[in-house]
Amino acid sequence: MTLNYVNICNGQLMIGQFTAQQLAQRFGTPLYVMDEKYIRQQAQMFKHSFTHPQLASEVIYASKAFLTLAMCKLIQEEGLSLDVVSGGELYTAQQAGFDMNRVYFHGNNKSLVELKMAVEGGVSTIVLDNEDELEHLLPLLTHSQKVLLRVNPGIEAHTHEYIATTKNDSKFGLSTADPATLSLIDRLISEPMIDFAGLHAHIGSQIFEAESFFMEADALIQFIADHKLPVKELNLGGGFGVAYTLDDNPLSLPEFLHSLLEHIFKTLTSVGLDTMKIMIEPGRSIVANAGTTLYTVGSTKTTINHKNYVFVDGSMADHIRTALYGAQYTAILANRADEICDIPYTVTGKACESGDIIIKEALLPECKKGDILAVCSTGAYHYTMSSNYNRLPRPAVIFISEDQVRMVVRRETYEDLIRNDVGV
Ligand code: LLP
Repeated sequence: MTLNYVNICNGQLMIGQFTAQQLAQRFGTPLYVMDEKYIRQQAQMFKHSFTHPQLASEVIYASKAFLTLAMCKLIQEEGLSLDVVSGGELYTAQQAGFDMNRVYFHGNNKSLVELKMAVEGGVSTIVLDNEDELEHLLPLLTHSQKVLLRVNPGIEAHTHEYIATTKNDSKFGLSTADPATLSLIDRLISEPMIDFAGLHAHIGSQIFEAESFFMEADALIQFIADHKLPVKELNLGGGFGVAYTLDDNPLSLPEFLHSLLEHIFKTLTSVGLDTMKIMIEPGRSIVANAGTTLYTVGSTKTTINHKNYVFVDGSMADHIRTALYGAQYTAILANRADEICDIPYTVTGKACESGDIIIKEALLPECKKGDILAVCSTGAYHYTMSSNYNRLPRPAVIFISEDQVRMVVRRETYEDLIRNDVGV
């Protein structure tokens, strides 16, 4: 038994109509494979499920999860908006020709250069994180700029500490419990060049409990009602969890998204508030399960304590989430995917670091040199969090759609690695 989006046919792991082995042979390994059809389906599912007859709504893709020029184009074609958090993400969107009227610019420490780029680029909305950002923004404005303020409603979501964001001591946003937050909102309302549209919050990532999102919405709506804030837009952020292993139990998103908007509508009515536009910013839930990383097995080793290692040709440089968050993954021996998986292996790579662990314990058939090992659900926060540690070139990224395959990021070369080195 394996994850329900994994397709195995005649002992071969399939991605679209290709075997993983074919893709590995054609493009080399390590390789990030993205199932484009799956990404488009997820985007459409969000778009169609996050609707309500009495509430305007908008789905904004959080590009930090996975961003390339091709991905920007895909998101535009599917009719979603885009959340960017840096000049680099914004630049990528601009270069892809993404409609700036559908871009939200986030970040807790936007530089002057980034703010200027956003204003001059005509970004629809700047999500301010603190008062300093307002001070930086005001002198740049020649026209009214729509802004949201990121607040922190103090909801504790059950997730890894590094990806939980709205505890009161979080580095992000301003606490709704802090009187200074209200003073800043008053100021935003009265600034002539600022179009204060409303509030943004994001309670964390990889969340499985519907209740956390309901509580977030309730807390924000209560805050708006208590202080009679002129809010037209309420952005609840992302964070919808996905299955990396069979132990993960994500929300059924189509039903959940409907119920979230219905819940919000009832809460708004119960506190006597007008309708407002509700936004969400999914990242991981759009792309994580679309991605598979393919590696080639180099060798194996069994220690005197009977610990089995399988060494692959990637590393923590292309797969950091296990080392960083203790994240769990599912591995498949792609070219012998119907064999019994009864050998516990630690899947590790070629980085000079004991913490270079891709999967702490994966049950696999006996692995041999040249086998193709697939790690599932690597579409979110893998390519975007990859590094050149040990001067390892980053893998290529390919998009698969049924029988179509195209490269969207080429594999880095050794020349790429020294391209920015100067002073010799
Ligand atoms: N909106 C805001 C303001 C965010 O900060 C994030 C994620 C999202 C939306 C999208 O969240 P998602 O739907 O993807 O959970 N590198 C970590 C995740 C960090 C998430 C940061 N913010 C990981 O690999 O798990």
